[in-house]
Amino acid sequence: MLNIQDIRKDFPILSREVNGKPLVYFDNAATSQTPQQVIDAITSYYSGYNANIHRGVHTLSQEATDLYEQSRQKIQAHFNAKFSHEIILTSGATDSINLVANGFSSLLKKGDEIIVSALEHHSNIVPWQMLCERTGSVLKVIPMNADGELVMDEFDNLLSKNTKLVFVNHISNALGTINPIEYIIEKAHAVGAAVLIDGAQACPHVKPDVQALDVDFYVASAHKMCGPTGVGMLYGKEAWLNKLPPYQGGGEMIAEVTFEKTTYADLPHKFEAGTPNIAGGIVFGTAIDYMNAIGFDNIAVYEHELLEYATEKLTAIEGLKIYGTSKHKTSVISFNLDHIHPYDVGTILDKLGIAVRTGHHCAQPIMDFYRIPGTVRASFAFYNTKQEIDALVEGVKKAKMMLS
Ligand code: ALA
Repeated sequence: MLNIQDIRKDFPILSREVNGKPLVYFDNAATSQTPQQVIDAITSYYSGYNANIHRGVHTLSQEATDLYEQSRQKIQAHFNAKFSHEIILTSGATDSINLVANGFSSLLKKGDEIIVSALEHHSNIVPWQMLCERTGSVLKVIPMNADGELVMDEFDNLLSKNTKLVFVNHISNALGTINPIEYIIEKAHAVGAAVLIDGAQACPHVKPDVQALDVDFYVASAHKMCGPTGVGMLYGKEAWLNKLPPYQGGGEMIAEVTFEKTTYADLPHKFEAGTPNIAGGIVFGTAIDYMNAIGFDNIAVYEHELLEYATEKLTAIEGLKIYGTSKHKTSVISFNLDHIHPYDVGTILDKLGIAVRTGHHCAQPIMDFYRIPGTVRASFAFYNTKQEIDALVEGVKKAKMMLS
């Protein structure tokens, strides 16, 4: 069992006040908070061995390079990739998706079909629409139902020999639904399509095994899993990464450059042009160590407890409607109060020190499905408590009273 009070001591920000009240941080799906261990690792980098990597013979550069590559190996082990060169360090999940979308520009042709889902974040919609514009491919959408689940029968009907790519998130950022990615991957592979899973919202809650999933691409952002912003990863099967052309041209992604012809570096460097976020890359590994020390099984059990507690308490408020009621969901509650704009609820909660996200959560098609402008979203992490949920419930009741 987790000792939450001890864990909370690792997060300095959790003891601050906002508007004169203790901070209640329920915007974890937007970004998680950062433990002291990760903050210390960032400081160590800048105060101890700040240097560019893969370039210098000098000691600092070698130390930084070793730690950067060790972090890649930690990420490889965490996601159970077969090779460390299948892990490309990027600036985040969005960058990872764009890298793949850019690569497929030269592999798709007019009439090829790409399937996304109705539950996607804009970052897993727009790059594929741009790819369709470039290639003449067609975008198809797996529909959702009122519980916020994907309709798998419809997915089966969308698949054909023209399907080349399927892109689905592992967990919906707006509703918390856990999608049946194992089924999706198996069915997509049966028609010869490649699959990319957007794991940005899943990785704070579960530990994906890319080999067991047999997924072609999997993406994640460090800042959702106790790491810093501006760094993330793309896992790609070696064969796919070898097939895709480079994303950006620049230093370190080359084997040899002449004005007549340039040849490219081997994986992973082929996709890592320019000086990367070195400190971020190194401490991504620290964040993964931190989360593994807490344990993903422990996290799942505790967050489920928080989800059930909050769902019961919030549902008891008259006029409150929860969007996303799948049995398979993680610790995200999207809701609205009758006729009250989510922004107004969020503003009152902020006055009470409670941080939630309001709006469409970069998932406008979901809001269109429910015919609402947006929701109030409370997203819980393993360092949150039931007392904080009580504060949220009281805050929502207060907002209802003031705004009704
Ligand atoms: N994708 C992040 C969210 O859901 C920013 O809030």
